[in-house]
Amino acid sequence: MSGMNIGTLLVTGGCGFIGSNFVHMALRERPGWKIVNVDVLSYSGNPDNLRAVEGSPRYEFVRGDVADRALMDGLLRRCDAVVHFAAESHVDRSILDSGPFIHSNVLGTQVILDAVRAAGGARRMVHVSTDEVYGSLPLDRPEERFTEQTPMAPNSPYSASKAASDCLARAAHHTFGMDVVTTRCSNNFGPYQFPEKVIPLFVTNLIEGRKVPLYGDGRNVRDWIHVEDHCAGVLAALEKGRAGEVYNFGGDNERSNLELTMSILGLMGRGEEMIERVKDRPGHDLRYAIDSSKAQRELGWRATRSAWPAALDATVRWYRENEQWWRRVRSGAYREYYSQQYGG
Ligand code: DAU
Repeated sequence: MSGMNIGTLLVTGGCGFIGSNFVHMALRERPGWKIVNVDVLSYSGNPDNLRAVEGSPRYEFVRGDVADRALMDGLLRRCDAVVHFAAESHVDRSILDSGPFIHSNVLGTQVILDAVRAAGGARRMVHVSTDEVYGSLPLDRPEERFTEQTPMAPNSPYSASKAASDCLARAAHHTFGMDVVTTRCSNNFGPYQFPEKVIPLFVTNLIEGRKVPLYGDGRNVRDWIHVEDHCAGVLAALEKGRAGEVYNFGGDNERSNLELTMSILGLMGRGEEMIERVKDRPGHDLRYAIDSSKAQRELGWRATRSAWPAALDATVRWYRENEQWWRRVRSGAYREYYSQQYGG
């Protein structure tokens, strides 16, 4: 699919953390493209993230739900390809109520696939998924990593909904010959991340003088990747990925939650006394680790922005310097802004 001609790219969920970083990158690095961003603006979609490009003739925002078939039909007819980020993403929320996850992640993906097919032509779709579909790795076999061949074994309602959407994408390629590429990435960090995820939650708590709630024994391991490395991977998958294939992206940056917490405390000039040990997350996956060699081989992709301590340090600094952003996000004030701008 390399050499694909994109005039207009549809991005779903472009007001979220990863989606908005992708929109910024695509507008910057692909000057010939126009981006249409469809986002429902639920609790975590935030138009502030894209304020800087709002006036650009190469950017258009449409408020709407990806599960709205008529809306998606209309958008797909005037776009050449789609990158599908829109999803409910927070594991703890899915444990409390999985309904919105099934709606956005499963139904939403099915509607987009159907709309892509109905629009005809060979529109490429990148389905952005997660390493959590593979389940959990043991702590005592550090050499094991998720590859694209690892069977799916989702453990939370969130990852189950993403696995279901991955199956729909796979079936669309197999049954209808659709040009779908699926990506699965490890834990992202960087600017504009909603402060329910562990890094912005801990940093913003510490700025406010509050303790950080560490789940269980803190031994769980995540493979941290900078959001811009992830976005570069999605862009590469869009332009160079093979139809029907899955590509993993990881940061080669495994840290236990305790190690992560101590690093954040160090950067913020605080000590262990700021850790509050809290009850573990039910079904808490022990370890994620990604083998990205297929993406390196086939897409020429590398994680170049994820190395710690520099990347973590820069991220912590971003939250310290953008207090207004996360305070507005926490208070939900951006929704008032949205209503004034766009109605509804
Ligand atoms: O691996 C990719 C996934 O990473 C994405 O698919 C998910 O959408 C994203 O939410 C993330 O999932 P995690 O559950 O790993 O991320 P979270 O930031 O919620 O938690 C990271 C680790 O920190 C996890 O082991 C749980 C722990 N944690 C989290 C929170 C919110 C705490 O110890 N305390 C907390 O308050």
